[in-house]
Amino acid sequence: MDWGMRNRLSGIMRPDTGRCVMLAIDHGYFQGPTTGLERPGETVAPLLDHADALMLTRGVLRSAIDPGRRVPIVLRVSGGTSILKDDLSDEDLTVSIEDAIRLNASALALSIFVGGPHEKETLTNLARLCDDGLRYGIPVLAVTAVGKEMARDARYLGLATRIAAELGAQIVKTYFCEGFEKVVGGCPVPIVIAGGKKIEEREALTLAYSAVSAGASGVDMGRNIFQSKWPAQMIQAVRRIVQDGQTDAEAWEWFQASIGK
Ligand code: 5RP
Repeated sequence: MDWGMRNRLSGIMRPDTGRCVMLAIDHGYFQGPTTGLERPGETVAPLLDHADALMLTRGVLRSAIDPGRRVPIVLRVSGGTSILKDDLSDEDLTVSIEDAIRLNASALALSIFVGGPHEKETLTNLARLCDDGLRYGIPVLAVTAVGKEMARDARYLGLATRIAAELGAQIVKTYFCEGFEKVVGGCPVPIVIAGGKKIEEREALTLAYSAVSAGASGVDMGRNIFQSKWPAQMIQAVRRIVQDGQTDAEAWEWFQASIGK
């Protein structure tokens, strides 16, 4: 791996822990103005000091994020569908490598839909994106998107994450599931987990703790942070688990004290 690629990766995954708290706010690329992200600049401003990286689209980056903020950017470069369609797998690449470089992206993110109607296109798009990334020293984060009908179990997620790594992704984002150790064990590159739909803060902390305990290299969490009534406290509590080695119970105690409960 060349210097540029390693340097970008170490900006995302803290070198001393090998872990990452990534804040995901890219939901609008197919969901439109997601709850909590109507004005993304205002939502993320108090959170960025606690994030190791920020995952978003170029539109929100250019319009809502101060270029003076020193946060590594994980740029969403796949899309082309919306929630109005039944088949969300019909994605293509939506950003040129030149524009990603112009935006100083630390990584490029795209979704793959293993088992979906457009499985092949999303996988070959991943391979092409990895070639572009390798040409310029930019890592690729593959998101294992899950279609409505697909099980989020260790067998399926193990298959999807391994394929992502085999095709060249340097980081894989997936969902936590029972038997997650098997998913991590079968994937030769770091895995971060999505938070999924908003759940109670206590449960979301347990999710983060269970994932890192099972070998995840961190989180790429969105709704369970920015849809919380206490987003700044929530991201700090997650950070305590991922980067400071606290248990979910310890982080929960800190969270409650910090919101005055
Ligand atoms: C959508 C994404 C989102 O970034 C991802 O789902 C993370 O957000 P959340 O924690 O809200 O699930 O990649 O495809």
